[in-house]
Amino acid sequence: MSIKFSVPTNEFIERYQEKKPLLMKRAVSPDVFSWRDANEIFERCDVSANDLKLSYEGIRPKSEYVESYWDIGTLRHRLIKPAVYDFLRKGATLIANKIANEPAVNQFATKVAEFTGRQVVSSAYAAFGSRDSFRCHWDTRDIFAIQLIGRKRWIVYEPSFEAPLYTQQSKDYEHEYPCPETPCMDFILEPGDIFYLPRGWWHNPLPIGEATFHLALGTFPAYTVDYLDWAIKQMPAFLEARRSLSDWENDQSTLVAVGHHFNSFINDPKHYQHFMDEFVGAIRNQSPLAIELFGNPASTGIPKQAGLRLNVHRTLDLDDGYLIANGTRLNLDGQGVRLIRWISEHPETCLAELITTHPDINSDKLCNLLTELCRQDVLELSHT
Ligand SMILES: [Fe+2]
Repeated sequence: MSIKFSVPTNEFIERYQEKKPLLMKRAVSPDVFSWRDANEIFERCDVSANDLKLSYEGIRPKSEYVESYWDIGTLRHRLIKPAVYDFLRKGATLIANKIANEPAVNQFATKVAEFTGRQVVSSAYAAFGSRDSFRCHWDTRDIFAIQLIGRKRWIVYEPSFEAPLYTQQSKDYEHEYPCPETPCMDFILEPGDIFYLPRGWWHNPLPIGEATFHLALGTFPAYTVDYLDWAIKQMPAFLEARRSLSDWENDQSTLVAVGHHFNSFINDPKHYQHFMDEFVGAIRNQSPLAIELFGNPASTGIPKQAGLRLNVHRTLDLDDGYLIANGTRLNLDGQGVRLIRWISEHPETCLAELITTHPDINSDKLCNLLTELCRQDVLELSHT
């Protein structure tokens, strides 16, 4: 499930991320994914939740294709299969959002998270007709569309409203910021292709009368408004912000004082760092459970050839000698920083390789340290 990105990370961030689309032909091997995998994703998601949707002339009500039943005292929900099949035969699109605990999807998501340094949320789309189920719209997050089965036509237009946030959906803005008339891209996305599309770019992905399944991996960075929102929540510590308001004459000087305070507050690098640490600290990464290694007191540690991967998106903080992974802050000495940096730059490395490339670190110490980092969910074993 590896991805062959057509440009290196630094070039992607400089030239494409949030700037312009990028079509990456044959970036994944489509042979690794089958309809069986696709069916399992839809079957195993919570069919009663809003994250599973059926789109046909709008989003269909759950009652049309999900039933609830009692299973020996437990209320369960299941897809009404004939109804789902009927909708799909008529040209509906079946959608699973916020996919979790699906190793096949998670492996792609991990690669995109490594590539962009951002948290990733995955969705899946299946359709069999030639029906335009979404019409032209913009997304409020950058996406990597990974075409895994069949083909889809993508028509793309430049943004009319730049960098929309999650509250700024195209359906609410299109009367004021209509889609441009001339597309800037019109192409067929084929199995194995990845299309990167920044938020705000109008697009219309069209089924072309054949079976199609694609994943859309959305990336979620911290936005400036998130920082401002966080900063506002810190304002009650400032006396002037706690004062009551009565009339403009009286209150103007209070507001001027608050304005100055807010300005210097958000421009203080300490506060910026505090916010970023909290933002990164709130992210949880999906990593596989390995009870046989880390829950077993008789285990002798990680196997020498097992692949190791850093379970972290943001490694910038290594310059300051720490790392935040799954909510845990980890302070590191010089040797630790060097080791973690090496692992982050060489995903899929293994203990044997680390021993060879770091001869100055005692191999037992290295083994114990890496085992402990795996146990703490900072590193994950990618294969054994
Ligand atoms: Fe979209």
